[in-house]
Parts: sequence; C-alpha cells; structure tokens
Amino acid sequence: MTSFQVAIDGPASAGKSTVAKLVAQKFGFIYCDTGAMYRAVTLAALQQGVAMDDEAAIIEIAQHLPLRFEAGDPQQVFLGDQNVTQLIRTSEVAANVSAVAAIGEVRTAMVAMQREIAATDNIVMDGRDIGTTVLPQAPVKIFMVASAYERARRRYEDNKQRGLPTQSIEALQAAIELRDQKDSTRAVSPLTQAPDAIRLDTTHLTIEEVVNEISEIIEKTQ
Ligand code: C5P
Repeated sequence: MTSFQVAIDGPASAGKSTVAKLVAQKFGFIYCDTGAMYRAVTLAALQQGVAMDDEAAIIEIAQHLPLRFEAGDPQQVFLGDQNVTQLIRTSEVAANVSAVAAIGEVRTAMVAMQREIAATDNIVMDGRDIGTTVLPQAPVKIFMVASAYERARRRYEDNKQRGLPTQSIEALQAAIELRDQKDSTRAVSPLTQAPDAIRLDTTHLTIEEVVNEISEIIEKTQ
C-alpha cells in the first residue's frame, strides 16, 4: 500500500510546522519537518568550524548526517548522541541555513532521506519544495502564506512564550524577508507554489481555523 501524503510548503514562519503537527496528530499520520533537516546540516557545519562557502565539506556532512528524530512535544532532533532540538533554532543557524539549502548536492541527500521517510507511512511533510520536488504526486498540497509582519509578530510571541532570547519584531521581519528572498531565488528547487497546490493565507486565521481548513481538504481527498 502506498502512503497518503500531505505536502505543506510556504515561506519562513508561516506556521507550517505548528499546523502540520496538529493535522498529523488529528489523522494519526507521522510528521516530518524538513526545515529541521537543513538546519541540522547547517549546525553540524558550524560546530565543525566549516566555512559556509566550503561547499565540498558541507556536502560531505549532508551525505553522512547522523540525524535522528524522536517522538516528543516538540519532536526531538538528534545528531548522533547530541540533542540539537534547541540548537537548530538559533539565529546563527537561521542566518546560514539558506546558503546551505541552496547547494544542489545537499538537497539531493535531504530529498532522498525525505522520500524514504514518506514511503511507508501516511505523512504530513512541511518545507519549501515538498509539493514541487520531494512528493510531486502528493494528493494534498497546501501553500501557506501570511504577511511578513504577521509572521515576525508570531515568531516574537513564540520566542517570548518559550522564554527564549528574542530580537525585536522589526529585526525578525527583516531576517524573515531576507531568508524568503534567498529561498525563492535559488537555482535549485526554489520556494514556489506548485500549480496544483491550494494557497492558504493565514494572516487573519487562527491555528484552529487553518487546521480545520486543511482537515476538510484531506477528508474530501482521502
Ligand atoms: O522551515 P524552516 O524555516 O525551519 O527551514 C529552514 C530553512 O531550510 C529554510 O529557510 C530553507 O532555506 C531551508 N529549507 C529548504 N527546503 C525545505 C525545508 C527547508 O530549502 N524543504
């Protein structure tokens, strides 16, 4: 039996992972955060002191990444024995991840892992290129957007609520816009809406409303 796949793509901090997790829980599907994978490659490179323009070294890291996910809330991310769940969310990783994710061979290695994860279980996968490249046959594709200000505001509130150090909303918005611009203009698998994806603007929607909209789409499609 092939698995049922839900692809959720969109720009940075549009609420994809929050919503994807809840939808997965609701339907008993597994959840895969592909952004965490690119972040883990970036973190490993930074930890090893690799220069961000040393493509050969970064590709080597991506091809041998000892990445593991463990269930939990939030899902726990490990590199070997090291729990990197928090470390992959730092502003240093965020500032460098787009450059790492623009390397073609890094993407080839990540896409192979992602397809393997999606092969057997029903899944909700979120990222930038899931509907266009990783799972182009997915029966449900969502492209989730929200205004840059709203995305920065949500990230700010989220950081505060988690007790994490945070930049101002304005600084967060500038960083988000820069990352979107890099992700949308790279040569390999740029962030773009698949022609058959449903666009969902969440600027004025609650998390619950977004989850409900996607749930209805899944129910109609299944
Ligand atoms: O989703 P998240 O913001 O954690 O993703 C971090 C970065 O990883 C993105 O800005 C993008 O550069 C990269 N990414 C990607 N393709 C994906 C998921 C994430 O290029 N499928």
